[in-house]
Amino acid sequence: MCGIVGYLGPSQNSVQIVLEGLRRLEYRGYDSAGVSFLDEHDHLQNYKKAGKLDNLKMELIGKNVIARTCIGHTRWATHGGVTDENAHPHFNETLSIIHNGIIENANEIKKELMGHGVKFKSETDSESFLELTTFELKNGKPILEAIADSFKRIHGNSAFVILYPKTGEIFAIKRGAPLVCGINEITSEALVSSDPYALAGIVHKLYFPEDEVIVHLSGANKNLVNFYELKDLKKTTRYLSKKQDMSVEVSEKGEYEHFMLKEIHEQPGLIRNLTQYYFVGEGREALEKVAHYKPDRIYLSACGTAAYAGLVIRDFLEGINRIPATVELASEFRYRDPILKSGDVGIFVSQSGETADTLAAQSLCKKAGVKTLSIVNVDGSTLYRDCDDNLLIRAGIEIGVASTKAFTQQALTGRLMSAAMAGDLKDEAKKMKLTGKFALLAERIDHLLVKSEIIKTVAEAIYNKKGFFYTGRGVYFPLALEGALKLKEIAYVHAEGYAAGELKHGPIALIDEEMVNIALVGPELFEKTVSNIQEIKARKGIIVSIGPRNNEELMGLSDYYIPLDFDGLDELSPLYVNVVNQLLAYYMAKFKGTDIDKPRNLAKSVTVE
Ligand code: F6R
Repeated sequence: MCGIVGYLGPSQNSVQIVLEGLRRLEYRGYDSAGVSFLDEHDHLQNYKKAGKLDNLKMELIGKNVIARTCIGHTRWATHGGVTDENAHPHFNETLSIIHNGIIENANEIKKELMGHGVKFKSETDSESFLELTTFELKNGKPILEAIADSFKRIHGNSAFVILYPKTGEIFAIKRGAPLVCGINEITSEALVSSDPYALAGIVHKLYFPEDEVIVHLSGANKNLVNFYELKDLKKTTRYLSKKQDMSVEVSEKGEYEHFMLKEIHEQPGLIRNLTQYYFVGEGREALEKVAHYKPDRIYLSACGTAAYAGLVIRDFLEGINRIPATVELASEFRYRDPILKSGDVGIFVSQSGETADTLAAQSLCKKAGVKTLSIVNVDGSTLYRDCDDNLLIRAGIEIGVASTKAFTQQALTGRLMSAAMAGDLKDEAKKMKLTGKFALLAERIDHLLVKSEIIKTVAEAIYNKKGFFYTGRGVYFPLALEGALKLKEIAYVHAEGYAAGELKHGPIALIDEEMVNIALVGPELFEKTVSNIQEIKARKGIIVSIGPRNNEELMGLSDYYIPLDFDGLDELSPLYVNVVNQLLAYYMAKFKGTDIDKPRNLAKSVTVE
């Protein structure tokens, strides 16, 4: 959600540096973008534009943007429509601020300030913090105190970056939202951001402040960065510091038309590397730690695609380890007062490691004394830092907003965890066998990618139909949910994932010749799933079967048939089927002409609840 970048240093190119950081973060939110900077006369300049970052860049063409201090933002709208006025930064003659999160008591603060004659320019909640801090400054408080007192008043999870033109300094503070700062001592540059990726290649050292720590970027000749406690404004060491070792990964699409397609194609390589990493590489220690887990019960908690990957992991844990496991939507789990016991383990599945609800679910478990483990992509993310133990999914940066490779890597990391807990790490033969299975999965996906023309042809035939039911049974049911989600988010058509046996309990009333059933048919429960397809066929639904190759019965029933080779994949076959779903959604979206990598209304990392 919202990308934030702030820069203070000797370079007169700060606006370009901030824009480059925002470009890297644009996949997180792309409703509008803006920058504030101090020009060569130390005057505050502000530019903001609704729409993608390119609109802002166009606006800046030909403008004098020589500046040493700059803050910038890409927005994912929460309060107030997508307009130039509602874009960040929000500024007045005293301050400029950018915000990520929600101020729950914004209306109350606004009302109070309006009573003092303050006028608001936007419909955003963010502006209430700007005006509250300005009000405190006008009442004679020093800047640090003004920020602290305003921040203490606001409710909800937020991160702010504040540019104070009077001294040219930048301040930042957060509660329950991501924030990182970084320094380069050689060049005397200090930056702040919502994501370390924006700082890669510029800084050498990263600092992750804890909640309610005020970050102060002060410029050369002084400490580049200082940290103060919100409660008493005393200097603090409540932050985690870390060497910056992230390379500016190739964030180009290369030969692919979209990041999503590139990321789908990366899957075989990533799958092969995962067993290497965990069986012989750096990941061994983390997996060995998990091998000692003896939980009475496991709660898996996550959101969206990550929750569906959680369902696949649940099937491994229950099927292979026979440990009771449930998957909980983090947004519900955090509020439903679950019965947590000390023998339980909480597992949190996430690509970004910054999803607000998943973080809250983790915190709930931690407070209840439950051991917490993350299955996460971003090393050093909040979830990674907060959990007792971590298993990295090693998917590399995922730019496409619709998650693809992260799902596969999350589920497979779960499979490795289940092997570790079953004691397989001590048995070379078992490790070899599993490595072979992963390699076979990678190979089958490679074949599928080569034959993706078949999937494209099916997509072309059905993309304009009225609605889509993805159905599956057993271990294929999670894929029905995930397949439908992928289609909804990138092709903007109504799709639902359903357990194949459930359709006749209501939704079958929707079936007619304009409705498509994407039937996911594995070798398990084959006959029963075929019967469910018959029921839809009898009501004139269009049948697209994704199932075992050379099956005459299924072929005869289907309007379109995508044959697969399941042999030897066993419990990993759901991951193979899921790649068909990814490609089908991708091609349907392509025929529809939607913005595949940045679908409307979405953001990559959902840091608000
Ligand atoms: C869908 C998608 C989302 C995320 C969800 C959780 O394609 O990407 O449903 O899976 O927002 O995000 P993370 O995994 O970052 O916690």
